[in-house]
Amino acid sequence: MTDTTPATPLTIALPKGRLQEQVQELFRRKGIEFSFENRKLVALDKSGGFQFFLVKNSDLPTYVNHGIAGLGFCGEDVLYEHGGSFIRLSDFPFGGTSMCIAGKKGGSFEHHGGTVTVATKFTSFTRDYFHKEGLPVEIIKLNGSVELAPVLGLAPYIVDLVETGTTLKANNLEVYQKLSDIKVYLIANPAYYKLYYRQINAFTQKILASTADR
Ligand code: PRP
Repeated sequence: MTDTTPATPLTIALPKGRLQEQVQELFRRKGIEFSFENRKLVALDKSGGFQFFLVKNSDLPTYVNHGIAGLGFCGEDVLYEHGGSFIRLSDFPFGGTSMCIAGKKGGSFEHHGGTVTVATKFTSFTRDYFHKEGLPVEIIKLNGSVELAPVLGLAPYIVDLVETGTTLKANNLEVYQKLSDIKVYLIANPAYYKLYYRQINAFTQKILASTADR
């Protein structure tokens, strides 16, 4: 054990899905090896220095906020919706997306002072955006497959993440307006960071070591 290896492993929350694969690939390249076998949601890496929790994307800040996981990899979209206070240790070149207003192909985002109806998973972001723009908005909260809303007539507009654009295209929709770039961050619980800052700094230096990773 080196002086940078904690007596207890650093606890790190990983989000299920696309981002999980990208983060796990980063760890593999840095020699931190682990896997979630047989649908297990907790994994220890081979060195015993890191314990990983596989959580639902939108629950990740909750685990870090409560200090259950000291660290986590999380998109700004999810951090915005949670609203908690975290230390952002670093951003990453992968997992970047855009928050956009979208609707049916051939249309456009139009408002003439009336209330705009928008379906979204990101209610806080959407409320704040329209408030800032001074536009009255009715927000319909969905939990997924948001692209269905304009297709089925639930709402003419969605505010959603666009990464490759494949989902919009496949459903005959298009971006009307890009609202914000969304990055992925390594976040820390502030109290946990104070306790383990040496180990955490050694860990971040290790995963950010090569310029190719930034
Ligand atoms: C996200 C987002 C879009 C899709 C965009 O959904 O809400 O639906 O990805 O990605 P693309 O531009 O590469 O097609 P997610 O895959 O997280 O699933 P969900 O619809 O269940 O929220």
